[in-house]
Amino acid sequence: MVTWKHKGTESRSRDYGPWPASRIGGWLVAATLFVPLVADGLTAQQEYEIVPRPVVLEPIGGTFTLDDRVRAVLSHAGDTDLRAAAEFWLSRVRAATGLALPIVDDLEPGSPGTVSFVLDDSVGEAGAEAYELRVDSAAVRLSAGTPVGIFYGTQTLRQLLPVETEISLAGTSNAPSSMRPRSAGHGPEASWSIPAVRIEDAPRFEYRGMHLDVGRHLFPVDFIKKYLDLLALYKLNRFHWHLTEDQGWRIEIKKYPRLTEVGAYRKETILEKHFDPYVGDGIPYGGFYTQEEVREVVAYAAERQITVIPEIEMPGHSLAALAAYPELACTEGPFEVRTSWGVSEDVYCPSEATFTFLEDVLTEVLELFPGRYIHIGGDEAPKVRWEASPAAQAVMAREGLANEEELQSYFIRRIERFLLDRGRRLIGWDEILEGGLAPQATVMSWRGTEGGIEAARQGHDVIMTPGSHVYFDHYQGRDRSQEPLAIGGYTPLQKVYAFEPVPADLTREQGEHVLGAQANVWTEYMKTSEHVEYMVFPRLLALAEVVWSPRASRSWPHFLRRLPAQLSRLGALGVNYRIPDVSGLEADRLLLADRVTLTLSAPVAAGEIRYTTDGSEPTAASAIYSDPIDLAISEDGVPVRARVFLPDGRAGPTSTARLTRARLLDPEIVPEGSLVSGLRFEFFEGDFASVQDLDDAVAGVRGEVGGVRLTGSEPREGGFGLRFTGYMRVPEDGVYSFRLTSDDGSRLSIGGGLTVDHDGRHAATDRSGAAALRAGLHTLDATYFDAGGRRALELEVSGPEGGWRVVPAEWLFHRP
Ligand code: ACM
Repeated sequence: MVTWKHKGTESRSRDYGPWPASRIGGWLVAATLFVPLVADGLTAQQEYEIVPRPVVLEPIGGTFTLDDRVRAVLSHAGDTDLRAAAEFWLSRVRAATGLALPIVDDLEPGSPGTVSFVLDDSVGEAGAEAYELRVDSAAVRLSAGTPVGIFYGTQTLRQLLPVETEISLAGTSNAPSSMRPRSAGHGPEASWSIPAVRIEDAPRFEYRGMHLDVGRHLFPVDFIKKYLDLLALYKLNRFHWHLTEDQGWRIEIKKYPRLTEVGAYRKETILEKHFDPYVGDGIPYGGFYTQEEVREVVAYAAERQITVIPEIEMPGHSLAALAAYPELACTEGPFEVRTSWGVSEDVYCPSEATFTFLEDVLTEVLELFPGRYIHIGGDEAPKVRWEASPAAQAVMAREGLANEEELQSYFIRRIERFLLDRGRRLIGWDEILEGGLAPQATVMSWRGTEGGIEAARQGHDVIMTPGSHVYFDHYQGRDRSQEPLAIGGYTPLQKVYAFEPVPADLTREQGEHVLGAQANVWTEYMKTSEHVEYMVFPRLLALAEVVWSPRASRSWPHFLRRLPAQLSRLGALGVNYRIPDVSGLEADRLLLADRVTLTLSAPVAAGEIRYTTDGSEPTAASAIYSDPIDLAISEDGVPVRARVFLPDGRAGPTSTARLTRARLLDPEIVPEGSLVSGLRFEFFEGDFASVQDLDDAVAGVRGEVGGVRLTGSEPREGGFGLRFTGYMRVPEDGVYSFRLTSDDGSRLSIGGGLTVDHDGRHAATDRSGAAALRAGLHTLDATYFDAGGRRALELEVSGPEGGWRVVPAEWLFHRP
């Protein structure tokens, strides 16, 4: 039995207000709120709002109506897997509509008034997961080579039906009551129609994964099932279940009861980000999944064509296990289940006792998880304990290992041997490359794609999960004050959508080692399942399209057109998805006019945009946006703030932009012939935390450079700063926007005014600002620092004519 000792507020039901009765994906409502993007061919077919986008989709006129006369037909009545795949969908639709939809034996597939499920080897030639769907006014025919393909076809059928056919998920009965079937048991007045269409579909990648960390916080089995349901709806097929961590061991192991008696509980949890000085919340926290529950989850996943991949972390992230069995460490202990986040120096000692323990644990794990892959972690394992441990050093001497990296490699290879002997394959995070890869290991590339590239070059299989694009613990909005506390980063929906799992620098053959991709959900800052849903949705939809749809058919505008219907569906399923930002307020604007017409939009199917222009937070009582706003603007600027309010009362994050009447800045008068091309730069060596620190630093090297960028003469190691000074000659009067990308901080001043402030330590992100300039020369001052790690610096401009480009070298001058 799982014990839920934590005090997190698991909200199981939410209070939804009435929903509008929009039917087919809510497009008609969407049209009032979402300004359609006309590009990209989606015009007349708004009903076909399927995610992930099918390979081929041809609309046919008309609809097929599900009513009391409709029968279901199987091509192979005795095939239990086919029957199960058909029933999986039929039983949902029956529950939602009250229709009988019986499976009958006395009709041919394709007969009028039937929904047929057909096993057809010719469709199977496109792969076991491929399917074809034909809906016309007479019949529905779903064909595939296997029941798996049939299953994916039914998930498409599901998305072609109105959202009212969605029913509560996995016992988490939080579908709003007004979304309950209007017709259930109420006779023939209802009409459940499917738009006529022909679809051919098959996935691009075989590995389409979602991860969930239950070590930092754990979630009820009901939620795990809901998660699996949602993965299936979007045709994902791997669930990476991160079951062991420093902060908690979450899976019952019969042979080692202390793993859960001791290792599943921590005395408290760090409060927010109070690392130093540490502040804990004082609330004991813990729990675990019994083997019975694990079996239930694995079976539930299998019904949805999802394989569960357990992760048992080693040699690091194992403090909870060491707290239970301190003899597995290189030092004496005692150890405590960790209460704060980060990386622990205490790891398993590479002793025979540890290998026996891990093999025993894995023996039970293999019993529970029948899938091919077992994830053994391997990430973030400091070597300091091994360096100081006579036992670890003796293993190195015995095995002829040159260093601790090779010792880690030896550790992983031994575990791989154990798994291979039992017919399984090992997956590890990309650190398992260090010291040499185990012979048949599959690498999960998380520190960027470099580890994956290296592994593929070595002929190993790879799963791409780079932090840059698919870490769903990162912020989704630029304005952190509008978001729940997160670990950091900035990974909006569009960035996930732009992810390409096969790096361009792999050959075709190497690229075939990329099995697919996965998004990771580390739950340090997610205490409730609602919060997990907020971080995962709608980003999961973008991931689904990345891993399923053909690369050439991926289109952000097209995806945005399909998003509103999907958000409605998620709403009907009781998913606490992040409500989209309001478009039109991405950046502050300088304008050469007294009035401006402001157009706002948001990709949601129902609800309202409400806005303010007095700086206050928009509330449910603020002005409703219906038509473009005609705004008077001043030199002081007008703050426009807007957010989406849904019919259920939920409100999205507030988007804010300041619109300011610009006054053109007069150019500098500089004598003819007194300038030469390029900017002057000064180099500062040192550890800086802000560009302001450069003011007190003494310049080292000075020189000339053709732009605000790295000069090429920076040292390979260590922190430094750069200052660029000179003039920029702009060609015409107008508003110029500047985009400064840097890792770490940077700042730009034009004409003496601060134009872009992108200071502070951060990864390579950009920030923009604008200046209204008369044609001619204006002073330019830019500063930058790098505090270690990666470095990047680029300055782009967008002038009155529009379009971004790097500031042209011929615009830049300085006094010699
Ligand atoms: C990881 O994010 N440490 C794999």
